[in-house]
Amino acid sequence: MKNFFYIVAFLFVSMQSLALDGITVDNLKCEMLVNPKGIDVKKPRFTWQINGQQRGLKQMAYQIIIASSLRKLLNNESDIWNSGKVYSDQSVLVEYNGKILTSREECFWKVKVWTNKGENDWTQPASFTTGLLKVSDWKAKWIGLDKAFSWDSVNQFARLSARYFRKEISTNKNIKRATVYISGLGLYELFINGQKIGDQVLAPAPTDYGKTILYNTFDVTQNLKSGKNAIAAVLGNGRFFTMRQNYKPQKWHNFGFPKMILQLEVHYTDGTKQIISSDATWKVTADGPIRTNNEYDGEEYDATKELNGWNEAGFDDRQWLNVQLVKSPGGIVKAQMNEPMKVMQRIRPVSIKPVSSGKYILDMGQNMAGWIKMKVQGRKGDKVKLRFAESLQPNGELYTANLRDARVTDIYTLKGEGKETWHPVFVYHGFRYVEVTGYPGTPSMNDFEGQVVYDDIPGIGSLQTSNEIINQIHRNAYWGINSNYKGMPIDCPQRNERQPWLGDRTMGAYGESFLFDNSKLYAKWLRDIHDAQRAEGNIPDVAPNFWYYYKDNMTWPGAYLTIANMLYQQYGDKRPIVTHYASMKKWLNYMKSKYLKDYIMTKDSYGDWCVPPEAPELIHSKDSSRITDPKVIATAYYYYFLNMMQKFATISNNTGDINAFAADAAKVKQAFNKKFYNSAKGQYSNNTVTANILALAFNLVPDGDDEKVFKNIADKILIENRGHISTGVIGTQWLMRWLTKYNRADIAFKLASNDTYPSWGYMAKNGATTIWELWNGNTADPKMNSQNHVMLLGDLLIWMYEDLAGIHSDAKQVGFKTIMMKPSFGVDLNYVNASYQSPYGAIKTQWKKENGQLNWNISVPGNATAVVYIPAKENIEVKEGGKAVTSSEGVKFVKIDNGNVVLEVGSGDYSFNVADFRLTGK
Ligand code: BGC
Repeated sequence: MKNFFYIVAFLFVSMQSLALDGITVDNLKCEMLVNPKGIDVKKPRFTWQINGQQRGLKQMAYQIIIASSLRKLLNNESDIWNSGKVYSDQSVLVEYNGKILTSREECFWKVKVWTNKGENDWTQPASFTTGLLKVSDWKAKWIGLDKAFSWDSVNQFARLSARYFRKEISTNKNIKRATVYISGLGLYELFINGQKIGDQVLAPAPTDYGKTILYNTFDVTQNLKSGKNAIAAVLGNGRFFTMRQNYKPQKWHNFGFPKMILQLEVHYTDGTKQIISSDATWKVTADGPIRTNNEYDGEEYDATKELNGWNEAGFDDRQWLNVQLVKSPGGIVKAQMNEPMKVMQRIRPVSIKPVSSGKYILDMGQNMAGWIKMKVQGRKGDKVKLRFAESLQPNGELYTANLRDARVTDIYTLKGEGKETWHPVFVYHGFRYVEVTGYPGTPSMNDFEGQVVYDDIPGIGSLQTSNEIINQIHRNAYWGINSNYKGMPIDCPQRNERQPWLGDRTMGAYGESFLFDNSKLYAKWLRDIHDAQRAEGNIPDVAPNFWYYYKDNMTWPGAYLTIANMLYQQYGDKRPIVTHYASMKKWLNYMKSKYLKDYIMTKDSYGDWCVPPEAPELIHSKDSSRITDPKVIATAYYYYFLNMMQKFATISNNTGDINAFAADAAKVKQAFNKKFYNSAKGQYSNNTVTANILALAFNLVPDGDDEKVFKNIADKILIENRGHISTGVIGTQWLMRWLTKYNRADIAFKLASNDTYPSWGYMAKNGATTIWELWNGNTADPKMNSQNHVMLLGDLLIWMYEDLAGIHSDAKQVGFKTIMMKPSFGVDLNYVNASYQSPYGAIKTQWKKENGQLNWNISVPGNATAVVYIPAKENIEVKEGGKAVTSSEGVKFVKIDNGNVVLEVGSGDYSFNVADFRLTGK
C-alpha cells in the first residue's frame, strides 16, 4: 500500500515538473546533503540549483514548504514550515525558520522559484529526517566487554579480535517506520536478519570520543519482518582501541575496548511504538572469524571460525557471553553530518608477477588507499597473506622501509568450501603493490580487485590542458587527496602515522575543494579542532588529537581559521565562522599573551617544513640560506590572522572586536618591517622566496616597494634556482598565485610544468601516481618519506582552477555567486578545459589558442554572474557567438582594464573570440 502511494506520488510529481521554458530547479539539498537521515541541526539550510538555456537567469523570489508527509506536501499542506514568498536571490544555504524541530521528524520539502523569466512550478520533493536531538532521547545503554581474551595481545602491536553482538526481537504488528541509530566504536558493521545495513564502511567518522561521539541513522523499515528478527553488529578497533600511541612520547591514550550504543525505534501502523536498545540482554562473542584488526598492522580473518547464521534469527547463542554494561566514552553523542566512507572505486591490477616460489607481486597501477577484495579456492586452513607497499625495491620485492613499524598484513584462512571471496572491513592500507603469499594454486589478476575507500564525496572538478605534465600532476593530486580523506583529512594512508595534521591542510583544503565537495568533511573537522582546544586556548597540531602535539605555532593550528575562511569563500557557508569565532579569538589571544614580544610572534614549530634540501638523502635542509627564520613565518601569519579576524568579526556580528585586531595588526606590520625588512635590497630576512612571498601575500610590504620585493622572488627562482621551486609547505601555499598576480604567470607555469628536481613533475617522472611528502621522495631517508602526502601541493590546485582555467569565486559574492574569470592566457599552453560543480551548478571554461586567435567558451550556472576578462584592447576586437560583443544578448561591458576587455554576463553558454590574439610570453 505504501509503495503504491509512492508510485502514484512519483508519477504525479514527474508530470508536475514540466517547467517554464525548460527552466528546471533541482539538486535539492538540506545541509548540502541529498535527502539526509537523522540530522541534528536545529536550523537546517536548503540549497537548490536553477538550470536553463536562457541567458541571464536570476532568481527573484522563492518559497519553501515543508510537510510531515509526502501526501501533505503534494497537497501543498505545509504543516512544518511555509516560508511564504520571499523576495530574494538566495538559493544556497537558505536557513529554516519554522517551528522548533524535534527528534525523529520526517520532513518533505520542495521549493518554488520565481525567476526574471517567470514563475516556475514546484520542484520534485526532497526530504530529511531529524535524529535524536536530546540526550534523554537515548534509552540505549553502552555495551561491550571490557577485557581481552587469551588469543588477544594488548601490547604495542595490539591484536584484538572483533566483537560480535546479537539480539533477537519479535514484531507482530504492521510496521509503519523503523529507524536505527547506532554508534559502534571504534568501527561497526550493522546487520538485520543477515543483511548488512547501509553501504558505509569504517563507520562512524573518527573523533575524540571523550568529547564527541558520532552516530549514524538508517531507515530499516524494509529490513524488519513480521515475527522473529535478529539485530547484530560487529565492532572493530579503529581509532578507539589503538595501543600503538601509548608506546610513543607525546602520545594520547587509547579509549579502551570497543563498545556500542544502538537504538532501534519501530513505529507501528496502529500508532504504537517499540524501542529496542542495546542493554544487558544482548549476547556477545569475541571468538569469531576476525581474529585481529589494527589500522596499521592489518586484519586477519579465519573463515574456519565463521559463526554461521550469527546475524540471523534462530542462531544458538547459548555459548556466547552476556554483554557488560560499560561506561560511555564520555563524549556528547551527535549525528554524523559529514558523508561516511564508502568503497568509491574499484580497480583491477595491471600485472601480477612471481618474485620467488609462491610469492607474487600485484601492481594496481595506482597508489591508492583501501583494500584488496580477493577470490580464492583451496583447502581448509590454507592461509593467504597480503602485504602492501607503495613501491618496489630494485629486486622486485616490496619496499616497506618508509612504513616505519606498520606491519600492513592481511591474512585470510580458508574454510575450504569452494570459491571464497573476502576483503577486510576494519582496516585500510595505502598501496600500489601487494605481495601475495600462500595462495593455493596460481593466482591471476582476475582474483583481485582494489577497492578504493574514502569519504563519499563526489569529485566536482575536472581540468585538462595541452601540457601532459600538468595533467598528470592534477591526476596525482586527485588520487593523493582521495587517499587521505578518512572521515578526517589525514597526512598519509600507509605508515604508522595516518594522523590529521593541521598544517598539511591550511591551504590544502582550499585547493582540494576544486576537486572534491569537501564542505561537510571540513565543517566536521573544525569541530574536531574545537574539541581539541584546551581551556587556556591552545590548539594542537593534530586533531582529533590522537597524537598529542600542543607545540604552539601559528601555521598548523591556523588551519582552524583558514578552513573556516575556505568554507565561506568556496561554499558560501558562514556558519563555521559564526560557530567558531570565539574559540579562534581565544587561540589568537593565547598566542599573543604567551609569545608576542614587541609585536613579533616568537614561537614557531616546523618552519617552512620540507624545503628541497641540499643533499638527496636529507629530510630537512641544514643550509641556513634555504631556511626561513621561524619568527618571520610566525609573525607574518599572526598578521594575516589578525586581518582575517576583522573580516570574521563582521561576518559573525562581533564588530566590537574589529578595532583591537586592527590596532594589533598595524603594530605587528611596523615591527615586522623594522625587524626583517631591508628596504635598500627589497628583501625580507635572508631573502628566501618564502620570507618575501609571505610579506607580499599578506600585504606587509611598505607601499611602493612591492615590485622590488617581487624582483627578489623572481630572481631567486629564475637565476639562483634555475627555474625551480625552493619553498616548503609554507611558502608553496602562496607561490603560484602571487607569481601570477605580479604578472609572472610564466614563472608559475614553469614551476608547474617542470619535470626536473625539485618539482611535482619530477615526482611524476619518477613513477609517482600521487604526491610525495618530500621533493626528494625518491632518494631521502625512509624515516619520513611517504609517497602519498598532499601538503606540498601548496596553492597549485587553486592556481590551476583560478588562474589557468579562470574559475574563481569573488571575495564578496562568495560561493561562486559571482565568478571572476581571468585565465592566464599568456602561459605556454594551447588550451585549457575545466569544469567545476559550484553550489549554483556547473561552471565550464574551455579556451584554445589557434591560428593567432583565442576562442573561449564558458558556461555560467543559473542565478550566478561571471565577470569575464578578455585580452583585447577594445570591444571591437571581441566577438561572442560570431557577433560583435556589444550586440550580444546578456553581455554587459564593464570596463577596459590593463589590456583586458571586462564584461559581465549572467547564466548561459557563451563563446568568445579574439581574432587577433597576440599575447605571448608572460
Ligand atoms: C607528518 C606531516 C606533519 C608533520 C609535522 C609529519 O610526520 O606526516 O604531514 O605535518 O609531521 O610535524
